Amino acid sequence: MDRIVIRGGRPLSGRIPVGGAKNAALPLMAAGLLGDGPLVLENAPDLADVATMRALLVQLGLGVAHDRAARTLTLSGAATSLEAPYDIVRKMRASVLVLGPLLARFGEAKVSLPGGCAIGTRPVDLHLKAFEQMGATIDLEAGYIHAKAPAGGLRGARVIFPQVSVGATENLLMAAAIAQGTTEIVNAAREPEIGDLAMCLMRMGARIEGIGTDRLTVEGVARLGPARHPIVPDRIEAGTYACAAAITGGSVLLEGARLPDLGAVVRVLRDAGVDVAETHEGLKVTRLNGLHGTDVMTEPFPGFATDMQAQFMALMCVAEGASMITETIFENRFMHVPELMRMGARIKYHGQSAIVRGVPKLSGAPVMATDLRASVSLVLAGLAAQGETIVNRVYHLDRGYESIERKLSAVGADIERVAG
Ligand code: EPZ
Repeated sequence: MDRIVIRGGRPLSGRIPVGGAKNAALPLMAAGLLGDGPLVLENAPDLADVATMRALLVQLGLGVAHDRAARTLTLSGAATSLEAPYDIVRKMRASVLVLGPLLARFGEAKVSLPGGCAIGTRPVDLHLKAFEQMGATIDLEAGYIHAKAPAGGLRGARVIFPQVSVGATENLLMAAAIAQGTTEIVNAAREPEIGDLAMCLMRMGARIEGIGTDRLTVEGVARLGPARHPIVPDRIEAGTYACAAAITGGSVLLEGARLPDLGAVVRVLRDAGVDVAETHEGLKVTRLNGLHGTDVMTEPFPGFATDMQAQFMALMCVAEGASMITETIFENRFMHVPELMRMGARIKYHGQSAIVRGVPKLSGAPVMATDLRASVSLVLAGLAAQGETIVNRVYHLDRGYESIERKLSAVGADIERVAG
């Protein structure tokens, strides 16, 4: 297994290109099941999760061409199988996003239950209840979801989500686009990736109102056609590299990053002493003086993103003063804490809240991560630490960060990938 070796202490300076968003690309690829195609997705990131979704769609019968030079994904054809098998779904929970399109288009789907993952049990009950409201019958058997639409196809419904769910909103939105009649999604997630999916569906011929709000109204249409859609820039990748600039005391231009997409992350970074300025090329992030301990609570968009919690905690490890970091979205998203502590961080957590007391310097160490964002928080800590940090299990990183060592070394980091 590859590992990443970092020798810390070098302020970052220069430009980092921000790629297409992983969490937009995955639902957008699933939307390729809905229409008569072809669906051409531009600004496509080259990530392990994109490859996994591609493998699933190919197994379902779609043609999926990934042109890495042109950074496009071209989805064509129609599904010939309606089954998403366990061996793929267990690798990537976002596979459950094929359920809505298959059920809506073909009236049936057999999708493995994703099971839990490192950060939590992550059930899909909200997805299933929404489809039942649209007339589907759902049976759970031998670890699989067996879903069947009513004879005339899924029917539009008024679905009120009891809690905000990105995936459930996306699954329902895709199914509603070609259901009979009108679907109203109340308490919809408002992450920029949802707006991006809605824009792509509109390009395919869908009729959606309320984009960007927590109330979406979808007028089902009979068919969806071909479209070409640029994937929105990855706000979490941008936020991660903003923390990299801040933790090393550097100054970096995040090319293509969009300020509104970062929601409350911008305000929190500014409170912590980081300058975030909007330019016509993206976001310029500079650490002016010392970092101040800043409290944060993760919330659905536009609140502070849970996917930025581990990265911000790494930053607070070297801030002056204390910070209280509360994780409200997932029940087990502090796995980076013990590893940061091995690098000299002073953190105590109990339940959903962690208290971080800043230290002047972290020290490099061999560390190991358990999920994508925990992994990258260790890379950030290594960039600031004295000495050498070795981050093991790099496959976690490859799921969501394209060429991270190349992007960081281009702005001055002493970082290399060592084949394991
Ligand atoms: C998406 O996951 C993202 N993944 C996650 O990013 C992100 O952390 C999460 O949204 C929250 O922003 C993708 O977009 C591929 P949820 P998702 O449904 O859709 C509970 C990363 O690092 N819930 O909004 O699975 C759930 O357990 C990944 O890129 C139910 O109880 O998240 C969680 O506590 C990690 N029942 C909360 O809701 C359901 O049916 C939010 O989950 C669905 C969710």
